[in-house]
Amino acid sequence: MSKPKVFVTRKILDRGMEMIQQFCDADIWLDDLPPSRQVLSERVRGKEGLLSLLTDNIDAGVMDAAGKNLKVISNHAVGYDNIDIAAATRRRIPVGNTPGILTDATADFAFTLLLSSARRITEADHFVRSGLWKTWGPTLMLGADISGATLGIIGFGRIGQAVAKRAEGFNMQVLFYDPNLNELVPGVNAHPVNLDILLHQSDFISIHTPLTVQTRHLINKAAFDKMKPNAILVNTARGAVIDPSALYTALKNKRIQAAALDVTESEPIPLDSPLLELENLILCPHIASASNSTRARMSIMAAENLIAGLKGEKLPNCVNSEIYD
Ligand code: GLV
Repeated sequence: MSKPKVFVTRKILDRGMEMIQQFCDADIWLDDLPPSRQVLSERVRGKEGLLSLLTDNIDAGVMDAAGKNLKVISNHAVGYDNIDIAAATRRRIPVGNTPGILTDATADFAFTLLLSSARRITEADHFVRSGLWKTWGPTLMLGADISGATLGIIGFGRIGQAVAKRAEGFNMQVLFYDPNLNELVPGVNAHPVNLDILLHQSDFISIHTPLTVQTRHLINKAAFDKMKPNAILVNTARGAVIDPSALYTALKNKRIQAAALDVTESEPIPLDSPLLELENLILCPHIASASNSTRARMSIMAAENLIAGLKGEKLPNCVNSEIYD
């Protein structure tokens, strides 16, 4: 019996790759860079399954290019703003994602950025390497206090809650804003507030909301104007939740103290972006979930979703499960 044909838009870790190759006739895009839209549309033609990465824009055009055989889209990410879910749902194509397994890695990374920005780790490293360090000094590289500070978490799902638990160990007060959750969460020491209060009261703000029409540029000039001058902003969610030109102005004019971003509106951030000039900004290349075991488990989960869809079974993690109703 012939195996179902699938297109995999990049090589993922071996565990998942082996599962896919065992069950499918897999066409794998081996380049380090994502396939162009044209290549994607060509390679997906006639396939029954598509395994995509967050760098692939899977819209109605790509689904139509695949044709009526397409049975499943499995996204190798927890976020799925790169996929037109409504278009998939209209075509009754289930879309899978990889929730849960990357919660700890992402929360660890958000906390890494928070600590690094507060204590100026990247600046300090550069200072030492470039020979500027002459002696120990009482005012050398003073940074923000973490113990006793207030952390505001925007988006209080799994990852936001995991960040709150880490903050408790650092003796921080935690506020959260989540339009879908306005009550205390058992076992998590954090208080629900509205967005204005969070922006006004937080020393650190960490973003953990998905990118939607409502959250695009949620952190804009008006939001920066409400923040404390010592505020430090951390984003490990999606870049477009922050308006980059408002961020530039806020950092440049010291309207807030600093920011640390794992994600930017354009990825990679263009090398002529004015943000790259700023010393009070840490930038990372979207690596919050990039730990060995997390990426291995993501590959397995993405493979499981893909294979379930090809078999006509319900995906273990489906973002549009209403198609099964
Ligand atoms: C990473 O950003 C993910 O959504 O998995």
